[in-house]
Amino acid sequence: MITKPPGVEDIFPDKGLRWNHIVKTAKKIFRNYNYKELITPVMEFTEVFSRGIGEDTDIVSKEMFTFEDRGGRSLTLRPEGTAGIVRAYVENGEYNRLALCKFFYMGPMFRAEKPQRGRLRQFNQLGAEIFGSEDPYYDYEIISLVDSIAKETGIKNYRVLVNSIGCRECRPGYMTKLKNYYNEKKDKLCEDCARRLEKNPLRLLDCKNEKCRALKPMAPVTSEHLCESCFNHFNAVKSYLDKDGLKYEIDKYMVRGLDYYTRTTFELVADNLGSQNAFAGGGRYDYLVEQFDGKPTPGVGFAAGMERIYLLIEEEDIAPEGVDVFVIHSGGASLEVAASMVKALRLADISADIEPSVKSFKAQFKRSEREKASFVMIIGEDEIAEGAVTIKNQQSGNQVKIPYKEAADFIIKNLQ
Ligand code: HAM
Repeated sequence: MITKPPGVEDIFPDKGLRWNHIVKTAKKIFRNYNYKELITPVMEFTEVFSRGIGEDTDIVSKEMFTFEDRGGRSLTLRPEGTAGIVRAYVENGEYNRLALCKFFYMGPMFRAEKPQRGRLRQFNQLGAEIFGSEDPYYDYEIISLVDSIAKETGIKNYRVLVNSIGCRECRPGYMTKLKNYYNEKKDKLCEDCARRLEKNPLRLLDCKNEKCRALKPMAPVTSEHLCESCFNHFNAVKSYLDKDGLKYEIDKYMVRGLDYYTRTTFELVADNLGSQNAFAGGGRYDYLVEQFDGKPTPGVGFAAGMERIYLLIEEEDIAPEGVDVFVIHSGGASLEVAASMVKALRLADISADIEPSVKSFKAQFKRSEREKASFVMIIGEDEIAEGAVTIKNQQSGNQVKIPYKEAADFIIKNLQ
């Protein structure tokens, strides 16, 4: 038997119900917030990620699925969505001329991590990115958007953590302090951190190694080293969150695992996920478009792991979606009329189904129950003779006989 490789999953229909609930809820909320879908390829030139995410990050240095194409070019399966979205935005001359763009995306991402609960090698993210504004309102909007998705998908116990990690102005001063702090403890650092201390000391705050984590609680704090404009920006983001009543905690050491962030960073965490407790994360990245040779354009966004959302709503009761109408017939002419009714209903955006082989009414009613039909429509010999249909509301048990032509309108009016 050929099995699937480690760290990937099949999603069978029983899981599909919850999965579709996540997709549908997120798409509805993206629409409510006026984000438009941008679909980018799952593979990009490797440089998109090494340049975008940063050479010193775990993602780029250890976790990418990279290979050469037949022409000897280095390609990588995307480990996240943002870098590819930025590449597409800069490359597309039409959208990058607009004052503001709000995109959303959904799809598979690939990271060669050690598989465990909630940590896969192929996983799916849903996310959003805004290009063109530094306004703290948008940092708030992105947090509010992912918070709405968390609530509406049914996640119960989670926390929103926020931080600000400054900009070009204030970060160099902070980095010097951070370097000084860690330099004194260099012998206590893991190998990776000892290496990245000089070039990228911010990464040390994100290291998962126990030895490095033990040094973190005394390290200098980013939010205490912000310049005036970053300080005001962070206050404005917090003030929007406060006015909305959106509860959050400040996590003063949250720098996130990707190099492109500036100012606001945030994560949504649920402790019952275990050590992989973040199910969504994001922040502002005001220099990333420039890094891709685009004209300076600020950006902010988030991504959530769909498998992690799935784990968090696994216990929730999600009603399976049934068919709107199941049409029952008695064969012969009645089957012909019933089949054309099914087609007419489908064309009217009503989901409809039929059992084409001739079976007893009882057997057809049984099938309609299995299909969780909201309405059963009976087109038997009596109905044919009268040019009518009988419609039974499966929930209330009420039954009406109405002219054939009025059937679709009746269903539309009575479907809630
Ligand atoms: P990230 O924190 O690396 O951020 O990933 C976002 C989410 O993807 C995580 O919170 C987690 O739920 C999920 N995730 C990451 N790795 C795995 C994995 N191996 N298995 C299952 N789920 C995983 C980003 O990717 C940024 N692009 C977010 C962003 C968008 N920032 C600005 N815009």
